[in-house]
Amino acid sequence: MLTAAAARERRFSGIRRVDLRHDLGAIADLIALCFGPRMDAGGRATIREMRALGRLGPLLGLMAMTDDMLRGIGQGFVWVAEGQIVGNVTLFPADFPPELGRTTIIANVAVHPDYRRRGIARRLMAASLEAIRAGGGTAAILQVEAENTGACQLYERLGFRVQRTWHEWRRGTHGPIPPRPLNAPRITLRPPNAWREEYALAARLFPAERGGLGWMRPLHPREFRRSLGRHVLDFLSGTGIERWIIREDRQIAASLWAKSRFGSATTQLTLLVHPARQGTLEAPLLNYAIRRLAVGYRALYCEHPADDAAATAAFERCDFTRRRTLHHMRLDL
Ligand SMILES: CC(C)(COP(=O)(O)OP(=O)(O)OC[C@H]1O[C@@H](n2cnc3c(N)ncnc32)[C@H](O)[C@@H]1OP(=O)(O)O)[C@@H](O)C(=O)NCCC(=O)NCCS
Repeated sequence: MLTAAAARERRFSGIRRVDLRHDLGAIADLIALCFGPRMDAGGRATIREMRALGRLGPLLGLMAMTDDMLRGIGQGFVWVAEGQIVGNVTLFPADFPPELGRTTIIANVAVHPDYRRRGIARRLMAASLEAIRAGGGTAAILQVEAENTGACQLYERLGFRVQRTWHEWRRGTHGPIPPRPLNAPRITLRPPNAWREEYALAARLFPAERGGLGWMRPLHPREFRRSLGRHVLDFLSGTGIERWIIREDRQIAASLWAKSRFGSATTQLTLLVHPARQGTLEAPLLNYAIRRLAVGYRALYCEHPADDAAATAAFERCDFTRRRTLHHMRLDL
């Protein structure tokens, strides 16, 4: 016999807010179905976690108060048809400094293959944007694979614009460690008081209006001059950042950051090369990072603008593999 709630769901068709207590398992199944082959290890782990949590039922409301992933899914919308969840959108608040406005990340946009091209995603997105606006949000951002032309068109028609296109580079742990190049430039640790100079270089290379340093990394001094509070947070989460620079004529000509987290299988790199030195300093810095970091179990990962041809050539030369090309899109509300 159907419960009253199940019977209601059978009759209901259309859009509604996510109800975490009942929907989590079905949303996990839908996302796995829609993104399956393209999902990375992190995505697959999230699906497993969602399915496990989905069995907790009523406790999920409480857990969502402290769990960012659950909170984001709980703030989203689903589309129901014939008693089943066939569409989903998730809304995460971005942890940006308050002076940058209130930005929401849109993720997990998925519609069951049997229900596509009926306007379901468009209406889920429209409801999401309306909810963000009503909640005082000032912008929405999302990332989409450049080759996913259907989704790109969906977002463009809603007013989203590409801020910048990024390649994701990865170098596994199995490749040979290259030798130190002859005439390698001197690479030193960046002193803390050089943060302003490095920030000025980053502002040229990764301007705020093009989305900053990468996905969910707006251009902001906090990335360069880490406060005491941030150091404590990093310590507690087992996060470490090393910053190296190449100085020429007493100026920072290039810089490379390596960020790793305890237990994580990857080290994230950020590469900054002065426009006048592009094509020259990328490879020595990457070579340095490989020799220092690509030993043991950690792979190297870097998202870098696709429009930087010199860096693309250097990543390829240093045996990085291009995994995906993503548009970062934004809509100001
Ligand atoms: C992308 C996706 C969510 C679209 O869902 P949908 O419900 O079919 O989309 P809609 O019917 O609302 O389409 C709205 C508009 O988007 C565009 N669009 C959507 N799918 C498209 C496709 N396959 N090809 C071209 N344009 C497409 C069209 O402009 C369409 O308007 P139209 O039908 O009047 O031409 C769905 O195809 C999906 O789940 N794909 C797999 C997961 C995915 O890639 N998600 C996006 C990740 S960023």
